[in-house]
Amino acid sequence: MRATSVDDQPATAITPKSYEEQQMTGNDDIISPGITNRWPVRRADIFQEPEIYATLRSEAPIVRATFPSGKEGWILTRYDDVRAIGRDKRVSSNQANPGFPHAYQGHSTTLATGSLMGMDAPTHTEQRRMILSFFSDARVQSYRTQIEEFVDRLIEEVRVLPQPVDLVEAYALRVPTWLSGLIFGVPASMYDVIIDRTAVRVSYTASPKKMQQATDDLQAVIAELIAMKRAEPQDDLFSFIVQQHDAGLLSHKDTTDMMQLLIVGGHESTANAIALSILALLENPDQLEALRADRSLLKNAIEELLRYATTNQTIFGRVATDDIELHGQTIKKGEGIRALILSANRDESMFPNAGRLDIRRDAKRHLAFGFGPHVCIGQGYARLELEVALWAAITRLPNLRLAVPHDELAVRWDAGVHGLDSLPALWDMADAC
Ligand code: HEM
Repeated sequence: MRATSVDDQPATAITPKSYEEQQMTGNDDIISPGITNRWPVRRADIFQEPEIYATLRSEAPIVRATFPSGKEGWILTRYDDVRAIGRDKRVSSNQANPGFPHAYQGHSTTLATGSLMGMDAPTHTEQRRMILSFFSDARVQSYRTQIEEFVDRLIEEVRVLPQPVDLVEAYALRVPTWLSGLIFGVPASMYDVIIDRTAVRVSYTASPKKMQQATDDLQAVIAELIAMKRAEPQDDLFSFIVQQHDAGLLSHKDTTDMMQLLIVGGHESTANAIALSILALLENPDQLEALRADRSLLKNAIEELLRYATTNQTIFGRVATDDIELHGQTIKKGEGIRALILSANRDESMFPNAGRLDIRRDAKRHLAFGFGPHVCIGQGYARLELEVALWAAITRLPNLRLAVPHDELAVRWDAGVHGLDSLPALWDMADAC
């Protein structure tokens, strides 16, 4: 049973440590019933949640926090609460709300405000429905053969590269780049700019100036894409979106914001999930061997890897549109909320022994894709990419292993989408098949 010591305590705000200070200390000394904490909190290790989360879940499941934008709001850490807020009708995702809990220092309210993620019903429902057929199971599966063939060629190229090989750059990033290019109809030549500027966009620490520059660059590429799709429409998602715009069903801003979100959303999270899944398996050899020996475990293993790696640390911000009572606290109308997916996916009441990777566990209720009306629209593609890319990596690179000790891995500590900058790996060439 959980302790609920926070429930009756008054909120007494303190001056928190600086964000940098907490990044240095790992923030493990901020136990916080009723006080204001800085969020985000750094993880002690790649696959560990910040230590404070377990304490918060058990003692203070809702606490006040200051976000990188300087705004104050609330963080939620328990599985049930994170799931519930995802479908709560008393919250808004609109970034224009003054209390919006921006996770990035550089976020301005002009950034992709027209994208699905930052919209509320009924506009959100209409626009999501508009593009939903491109994300149906049938549509996703229609790409299976093509992605299998692509990964087949890619792994052959990767296999013979001079080692060590960085599997993030040579492999994990290339899969979503290629597939998104196909689904959206984005030429590979535009992806360099998109990848580079996206990395700035998802950094917690990029300055407002750098963030704005990255946004401007992305919008310029998108303007170019729109012109291209108008001139030569194909059977791809972006041609369809431009047609909706030209039919008067989407504003110019909604069109560019939607494209921007789709590119960003489909790229970084998936690449990181592929790289982290490979790493997680390499670091759990018993699980790796079990999976290699029995492909029927793959689908279940992917759910567990999505839970275990949890690339997106939080669902998008929400703002209360009414007072919300939770565990004896009141989230007041207008206040921001961050529901922490990483913490929810480590909630022992839902996933016993949650810090352990267990590819046989029933993990399908994980919240890696969020929950509710904004649940990840691209999850079918993400699963397909993981399935094909992961299987090829663990079966086609004999004796696959890390080229550096765990502690030397380059982790993206400063980004909302958790991942690795690089994954240097080695394998045996002699018996490569
Ligand atoms: C492992 C890979 C991925 C992860 C972990 C992930 C995770 C998420 C999460 C946590 C949300 C927010 C849910 C919320 O705020 O309630 C989201 C939304 C979204 N994702 Fe993904 N995602 C992944 C891959 C993709 C892909 C491949 C695409 C596109 C092809 C995509 C497109 C989107 C879009 C458009 C939204 C906004 C949906 C809405 O607001 O209605 N994602 N994703």
